[in-house]
Amino acid sequence: MSFPINRMRRLRVNESIRSMVRETELSLKGIIYPLFVVYGSDKKVPIPSMPGIHQFSLDRLGEEIEELKGLNIPAVILFGIPEHKDAQGSSAYQADGVIQNSIKLIKDKCPDITVITDVCLCEYTDHGHCGIVEKDGYVNNDATLELLAREALSHAQAGCDMVAPSDMMDGRIGFIRKSLDDNGFSNLPIMAYSAKYCSSFYGPFRDAADSAPQFGDRKTYQMDPPNINEALREVALDIQEGADIVMVKPALPYLDVIRAVKEKFAYPTAAYNVSGEYSMIKAAALQGWLDENRVMLESLISIKRAGADMTITYFAKDLARLMQD
Ligand code: PBG
Repeated sequence: MSFPINRMRRLRVNESIRSMVRETELSLKGIIYPLFVVYGSDKKVPIPSMPGIHQFSLDRLGEEIEELKGLNIPAVILFGIPEHKDAQGSSAYQADGVIQNSIKLIKDKCPDITVITDVCLCEYTDHGHCGIVEKDGYVNNDATLELLAREALSHAQAGCDMVAPSDMMDGRIGFIRKSLDDNGFSNLPIMAYSAKYCSSFYGPFRDAADSAPQFGDRKTYQMDPPNINEALREVALDIQEGADIVMVKPALPYLDVIRAVKEKFAYPTAAYNVSGEYSMIKAAALQGWLDENRVMLESLISIKRAGADMTITYFAKDLARLMQD
């Protein structure tokens, strides 16, 4: 009688052989850590709904970057909290805005850390939506594209390594690609939040980024959770428009979507292990109800097994610390 090797019972007692036949390996390669940068000075503000995560003002960001470097974390994705918010999100595309200055600081201090920037207006608009909102309450898709392109270009000019549009407006990848190309940044890659669901798992992030919509919700531009064919259509459009990496977000409740995207397009694929996925584990661990490290490792490996080449995760530092031990 023959058995597939990984079902042989004696493998259970031999860790060395078990590791030889293990199909997926976790490493820091492809791990991206989100950072929240806030206006002002001398701020390192803990986010109550995300234990271990802080907002940093620019003058305190350096310490955090040093720590990430020491932990060998290869990449960060930046979110900004500006002092001034208005209907046009004008702080999003200022040359000396909070993100533009953060990019310069990080690139100056640790040029080897890959700096990705989230491109969206929701942290910069007073109403908290990801685009321009008309009097009738509709989001003006095309007027928003102009502003997103200005925002992405300002990040490029400040020296970021990649832009990541997360707004879900139609046509934004093509629009941003053209604007980058026309302005001398044809080599700057775009990581597209392609299949971004309208998810309740973003709750803690909206505290962290101060970006909860002041009215309504994001159902008209983010995807309906029951849909997967629509996700494939969104990914196809983004690839056609010039995306270099496509993303599925959130991660754990959408592992089937990650797998389907990877199988259908065989494209570099990222997954965003979002704030709610992080906070649930932290909260249960604080109660002593779950083994935090084991649950973290199992979550991150499942995202990779589903097909993600890259994972954006608030667990990046915890994972790195565990790997150093
Ligand atoms: C939008 C954006 C959001 C997240 C990343 N980019 C929030 C939203 O769409 O409401 C959520 C990330 C998370 O929950 O960790 N700029």
